[in-house]
Amino acid sequence: MTKMIFSAEGAQSLAEDIASAAGIALGHLNLRRFPDGETLIQILDAVKNHDIFLVARLDNPDPKLLHVLMLANGFRQQGAKTVTLVAPYLPYMRQDIAFNPGEVVSAEAFAKLISHNFDRLITVDPHLHRYQTLDEVYEIPTVCVSADVPIAEWVSRHSDDSVIVGPDIESEQWVRKIAGHLQAPFQTLRKIRRGDRDVEISLPDLADLNARTIVLVDDIISSGATMLETVQRCQRAYPNAEILCCATHCLAAPDVLERFTSAGVRAVAATDTVLGPNSTIGIANKLSDAINQSADI
Ligand code: R5P
Repeated sequence: MTKMIFSAEGAQSLAEDIASAAGIALGHLNLRRFPDGETLIQILDAVKNHDIFLVARLDNPDPKLLHVLMLANGFRQQGAKTVTLVAPYLPYMRQDIAFNPGEVVSAEAFAKLISHNFDRLITVDPHLHRYQTLDEVYEIPTVCVSADVPIAEWVSRHSDDSVIVGPDIESEQWVRKIAGHLQAPFQTLRKIRRGDRDVEISLPDLADLNARTIVLVDDIISSGATMLETVQRCQRAYPNAEILCCATHCLAAPDVLERFTSAGVRAVAATDTVLGPNSTIGIANKLSDAINQSADI
């Protein structure tokens, strides 16, 4: 298996980190925009018979997807043996049900599109709520890398006396593992979402609030509503506790993150699956391990 890593537009630094950690060659592309807005893609390395790993940042996916699909097809035109999508953040996973008549189940539609264009998918902590595994929607082999260890290491550098708290039931899958690494107590709360930016969190007694630090953990911070509401509920109930927030994927705009600081949160961190001011927890090593461990398909 001769592997080569490529970066889709916007993922260059992550692709370089992964290639260097994996000890795999990084391929090169040349992109040129025509006056009409279409793009000419030139693959500058020979990919014939290679297993290609295409690293793509798929937050804000709609404007990026055509480029990624064009690349997948381009590698195939030039004889690549397999093309694997390495999408550290897997979009559209939260739209896994039609909440109202006529709504498209985008998680399924997106999965079909990716399954028909790639041979395998590698991602980090996908949002699995109503689906138990990606196999329920993806028709290709999938590998889910977990950010639990890097996040636990970040927490241990910032607190040695924590209770790990998840804002809703589905966060238990991440909270339990991180708490396990830290040998810390954990609890998940209950969330009712009323709108994109309107959530209600119920706060039962936290198991061990002798801890000085409450560490809120979720897979995604997007509008920030879930985390900020949880912060405020915890502050009202435990005014002396310090609060840290972490997530695998932070999609929030900088002004949202400033609201965490204004609310008195000591630190907010996320992995670099999505680029942002708080994406300080590196995930490249975990992705390079997944690529190195990929077997022939
Ligand atoms: C959904 O259940 C996820 O786990 C997150 O809790 C959610 O996506 C966070 O979104 P927001 O920041 O917009 O509340």
